[in-house]
Amino acid sequence: MSRVAVVTGGTRGIGAAISTALKSAGYTVAANYAGNDEAAEKFKSQTGIAVYKWDVGNFDACSRGLSRVEDDLGSIDVVVNNAGITRDGMLHKMTLEAWNEVIRVDLSSMFNMTKPVIDGMRERGFGRIINISSINGQKGQMGQANYSAAKAGIIGFTKALALETARKGITVNCIAPGYINTDMVAAVPEKVLEKIIAAIPVNRLGKAEEIAHCVLFLADDKAGFITGSTLSANGGQYLA
Ligand code: CAA
Repeated sequence: MSRVAVVTGGTRGIGAAISTALKSAGYTVAANYAGNDEAAEKFKSQTGIAVYKWDVGNFDACSRGLSRVEDDLGSIDVVVNNAGITRDGMLHKMTLEAWNEVIRVDLSSMFNMTKPVIDGMRERGFGRIINISSINGQKGQMGQANYSAAKAGIIGFTKALALETARKGITVNCIAPGYINTDMVAAVPEKVLEKIIAAIPVNRLGKAEEIAHCVLFLADDKAGFITGSTLSANGGQYLA
């Protein structure tokens, strides 16, 4: 029986690359998405991967969605918490709504998506929880007080849960991507993006497939000694 993996935000961008890489590696994959039905249907028809619509910022929706996945595909072995949004703006211009929405979707989703599966993983003695943080949670980013706070919070969540689950065969790790060539990064104003790319030592944006490769590594049965870690994939930007 192949292992079952759920990828949030799994039909576009980095999430789509993760879903397809897991499928190619033999996992049975459920790709969650929140809103873009058209992209999800296209992804499903192109890849044959099952898609499931729910809001990762809503606890009840996550519980119901994860139950549906388990009914359809079997017990969940791997959760990739990838879904995230930005509502960029300098703090002096940031609305309370922009703050709350990013914390809800990017950070509270960690609890919402993990709590419903953790008992099953503990009982079965196996689990892989892989949380997508960001270089901007590690080093901060102007215009992203909300997003940087949420992405730094993911790192704390990961470490705490790694300690709780270490004796249960469950590993909990983060990946901290740098700037990856996705719609989210394409939305950054051009003059700002030019400055950002100039500050990346490898002198290019990352590829979604390069993050998917990190997920495969951490999801593997053989990665059982790696827990509570943050794998940085940023082209050297953190050092620059
Ligand atoms: N790096 C360097 N300089 C930056 C910068 C950055 N990340 N963000 C803003 N600046 C600079 C601008 O170039 C500008 O400089 P000048 O005054 O010399 O022209 C100055 O700061 C003010 O910026 P704006 O004129 O753009 O001010 P604004 O109030 O209109 O907008 C902003 C501010 C919303 C923060 C906008 O600059 C912006 O969207 N910046 C990008 C923020 C960012 O990096 N977001 C990452 C999105 S991708 C992502 O989050 C994925 C991931 O995990 C990496």
